[in-house]
Order: sequence, then structure tokens, then C-alpha cells
Amino acid sequence: MSIKNNINSIETAFKQALANAQDAQTLEEVRLKFLSRQGEIAGLMAALKDLSPEDKRDVGPLLNKLKQQAEEAFTQKKDALEIMRIQAEDAQRTAFDVTAYTPKRLTGHLHPYTQVIEQLENVFISMGYQITDGPELEDDYHNFQALNIPDTHPARDMQDTFWLTLPGKLMRTHVSSVQIRTMEQQQPPLAILATGRCFRNEATDASHDFVFMQAEGLLIDKNISMGNLLATLEAFFQAIFERKDLKIRTRPGYFPFVEPGVEVDMECPFCQHGCSVCKKTRWVEMGGAGLVHPNVLHYVGIDANQYTGFAFGMGLTRFVMLKYGINDIRLLNSGKLDFLRQF
Ligand code: PHE
Repeated sequence: MSIKNNINSIETAFKQALANAQDAQTLEEVRLKFLSRQGEIAGLMAALKDLSPEDKRDVGPLLNKLKQQAEEAFTQKKDALEIMRIQAEDAQRTAFDVTAYTPKRLTGHLHPYTQVIEQLENVFISMGYQITDGPELEDDYHNFQALNIPDTHPARDMQDTFWLTLPGKLMRTHVSSVQIRTMEQQQPPLAILATGRCFRNEATDASHDFVFMQAEGLLIDKNISMGNLLATLEAFFQAIFERKDLKIRTRPGYFPFVEPGVEVDMECPFCQHGCSVCKKTRWVEMGGAGLVHPNVLHYVGIDANQYTGFAFGMGLTRFVMLKYGINDIRLLNSGKLDFLRQF
């Protein structure tokens, strides 16, 4: 009887196909071909109904057995393949060569600005200073007016300002605005250090950027003199450059919010007889400083007859460039990984 032959040949074909299946995809093909509703075994089942009752009795059990065995074999094979797959995966995980070359991992680190700011803050914290900050988007009053730079004052031309379309608002041109904000909030004695970004409308080149970093210090107390200012700055530079004998010098300088005002130079920490950093002069310009102008104290309501103080401002960008030998200021804000990975 031909249906019996069919059962045999489908059984053989199924076994063969199952043996050949080596992965989930070929196994699925086997299931579709033989075990699914449109599969070969279902086809035989459908043919059963056309048989005579005796044949049905004869062939029915054979067919049921085939179906049952095929399904069992299929499940076994499926489990076996899954186990093999897991074992192969495990082998890949465990059989690694600890001496093998690994590509360098990308790990993050602090930007050179942040590193220098932290060093700077640590030195001033150790001298009893408080770390403060203020907004980058400032108003005319805190950036100029209260710093003794009135509307009509020619000193406004010293700093090319980014004015906003909002009336009286600007991107701060220096961190000195934080002096005002702090003195508005706190009564003397006070000693603060603030660092942050400043903005000036300048054409950029290797040593000028329109955004740069400054550090600003302010100390207000009774009987504060230039001597205190100079001693503080000298101690600071000595600590930061780890040179106990490093000297500073001052030249007269004009900033409307200090009187007297000075420009501060530091002995070049990199050479004995002149180098490219100090342009063979042995001195490096570090910033401005002076005794807080009585007008400034007046603006914030501090009695200038009772209190005096000093302020200093430093270009941190310059500082970072000096410390790390960076020759183009634009690199600092470039976000270039090749550059940043060196620090
Ligand atoms: N704010 C000044 C500048 O940006 C620097 C300065 C700060 C000078 C404090 C004196 C005192 O040029």
C-alpha cells in the first residue's frame, strides 16, 4: 500500500533532514517542511480520511507513531542545538588570551582648565579663602557701573563687549563682577576666589579668543595694604609653580576699580636666562591687581573709612597655556580629542 511507503520515505527524509540541521534556522526549515500544519506529516494525516476503515485501522497507528516520534526527535534536537550554542558562547567568553593586545581604552579625564582651577582653589582654600562664582550673563551694573566704570567712562573701551539684545545685558567681560555680587551678599571681613569664563568681542588668533578663563580674588578687612596683596600673590605663585624662591614684580597699571592699580609679573618659572615663554625678559605678565577703590565699596554699602581691601585678576587661559606648554589658545575650547587626550 502506497501510503505505507510514503510513511517510510517521509520518516527517512525527516531523520536525514533533522540530522543535517546544525542551527536554529535550518531546524526551523525542518519543522516547516515536516511538522507544521502544511507539513508532510499533516499531509499524510489528511490522506488518512480517504482510506477504507480497515486500512485506517492499519495505517492510523503507524502514522500516529511517526508523528509522535518525529515531534520528540525534533524537541531533542532543538534542545541539543541550544546547549551547543550556549557552550560555544561560553567557550568564547572563557578562552581568552590574557596577554593579547587590547586596543587602548578611551577613558575620560579632567580638562586642563579644570585641573588648574582645582590646584588654584586648593591654594586659596588653604589660605582661608571661600570659593564663589557668579553668572556669565551679566548686567551693566555688576560688570561696569559698580566697578567704578560709569556709562560715559572711556575705560569701557578697554573691553570690547558682547552686548545682548536684552537692554543692559551683556556677557561678562571679566570675573570682577563676582566681587560686586559677593559684597552685596556678605559683610566684611571676607576673602573670596572666583573662576570662570569671560567674553570679549575680539578677533581670534593663536593668543586671543573671544572666550577665556579668569580667576578673581578679593579680600576685604581692616588695615589691608599693598603689602598683603603682594605677599598673597607671591605665596600663590610659589605654591602653584612649586618654587619657594619665585619672585613677583609690579608695574603701575590702571583699572578703574582699584587704586593704586598694578600689573603683576612673575619671574619666569621655566628658564634661568630667558626663553620663548618670557620672550627673553625673564618676566611673565600674570594679571592686574590693586587696592579696592573706595567708590566700589561705596556702591556695595561698605564703609570705606573702616575697611580696605585688595583685588586681583588673572588670565587663567594664559596660566594653563604656560603650565602645559600649549601654543594655541583656540585648542582649549576646540573639543579636539587628540589635543585633550594629552593631559
Ligand atoms: N578685571 C581686570 C581685567 O579683566 C583684572 C583685574 C582684576 C585688575 C582685579 C585689578 C583687580 O583686566
